[in-house]
Amino acid sequence: MNNRRHFLKKAVTGAAAFGVPSIVPSSVFGQNAPSNRITMAVFGWGMMGPGNTNSFMNEADCQVVAACDIDKQHLEAAVNTVNKKYGNTDCKPYHDYRELMARKDIDTVMLALPDNWHALVAIEAAKNGKDIYGEKPLARTIAEQQAIVNAVKKYNRIWQTGSWQRSTGDFRQAAEFVRNGLIGTLKEVHVGLPGGHNDFAGTKDKTAVTPPPAHLDYEMWIGPAQMQDYIEARVHKNWRWDYNIGGGQLLDWIGHHCDIAHWGMDCDNSGPTEVKPISATFPPRTDVWNTATDYRAEATYAGGVKMVLANRGGDIQPGTKWIGTDGWVWVDRGGYDSSKPELKQKYNSRERDGKVVEKARAAVLGDDVLKTKLYKSPGHHRNFLDCVKSRQPTITPVETAHCSAIPGHLALIALMTNSTIKWDPVKQAILDNAEASKHLGREYRAPWKLEA
Ligand SMILES: NC(=O)c1ccc[n+]([C@@H]2O[C@H](COP(=O)([O-])OP(=O)(O)OC[C@H]3O[C@@H](n4cnc5c(N)ncnc54)[C@H](O)[C@@H]3O)[C@@H](O)[C@H]2O)c1
Repeated sequence: MNNRRHFLKKAVTGAAAFGVPSIVPSSVFGQNAPSNRITMAVFGWGMMGPGNTNSFMNEADCQVVAACDIDKQHLEAAVNTVNKKYGNTDCKPYHDYRELMARKDIDTVMLALPDNWHALVAIEAAKNGKDIYGEKPLARTIAEQQAIVNAVKKYNRIWQTGSWQRSTGDFRQAAEFVRNGLIGTLKEVHVGLPGGHNDFAGTKDKTAVTPPPAHLDYEMWIGPAQMQDYIEARVHKNWRWDYNIGGGQLLDWIGHHCDIAHWGMDCDNSGPTEVKPISATFPPRTDVWNTATDYRAEATYAGGVKMVLANRGGDIQPGTKWIGTDGWVWVDRGGYDSSKPELKQKYNSRERDGKVVEKARAAVLGDDVLKTKLYKSPGHHRNFLDCVKSRQPTITPVETAHCSAIPGHLALIALMTNSTIKWDPVKQAILDNAEASKHLGREYRAPWKLEA
């Protein structure tokens, strides 16, 4: 154990002994002197890495000390950003994640890598005693997710998933309404996700096979996935639309809206028993972007609750909608709404879907009504740092992330194999379907190996 973590442990034990709250305020750590800060290394400087890193650098008790990327241009941008923030030249660049993970003076890591890399890098972090802020979805396959869960448990690490919606008031409030039975008995849940593909990198037309640019280690970028020609349109940011690396819109968003759906359903540690394919449009597998452009599947949970997982449109609104015997509650990034006047949010007559939303009073319900209180986080990144100190679970621990993504993985398998999947959520296994079971994991390209 390095000195810093030893110090953190002592501070927490001392605080707990006096019966103070388990979340230790940063003032306990003195003046947040650099030697007392939680050290962090950041991995992946693409779409998500910079935002996460800035959030951590804005916390006075966290110090980013190293960055890793296999694209030299991205790595340089990462190091420059961190050094500019601190006004020094202390941030060290790394190409190989294993070298950086081996550094003993680093407490925590922030992982914002393409999905093909989630498992190997997270497991390496856990083995090296780092606490982990890891992006959603937990991994590219269910088997990889299970391996991450096992490693985090085995090495007793704190894990926060990038499912940040849980750390915002609207999502918590909406889920609390459902958990307190305010829409009666739950019957149906809609998880409305985007369809199509988004050209995040502006590379849609760069579909020619070319040599990879000199600044990118393409061999490493492909990592454990299958080797394929370099085509710019399917590398940075747009890898999501290629099943070799990502899982399309369904898996890109499952860790957000299904995560919230499960929170309201009280399913953070469970899952469906059956997933049925309804419809999907898959481009030919040989297309540069080959992930489903529209999709719909239905999952059944204990007690017969049905979940529709689909691209938004028609009867499916974007976000999460819970429908009960007494009404519905819906939530998305713009706010929440309900069929019940007392659960409506004050929208200030904002326009939504072309309609002026009725100005209704903010939901102010007493503790006698909202008896079940959900985990309230002070902010997603802050919550991670607090939990690193307190050694208490974060708002989205690894098991939650695993269960939140499973319905998406199963829906994709059901749609790809056009078969109804029977799932045992306790054993975490597909029952009586050898063809579908093949999709639970995938072959790793040598020399990479997944340790279960
Ligand atoms: N929580 C959210 O709201 C949110 C939003 C966007 C993306 N994400 C997630 O963040 C993750 C990253 O997505 P992105 O859009 O930022 O991807 P990106 O392609 O923009 O960036 C990934 C970066 O990782 C680097 N990289 C790839 N393999 C590496 C390796 N082995 N070692 C070091 N660096 C490596 C790439 O060079 C690139 O700079 C994904 O899991 C995605 O789902 C989350």
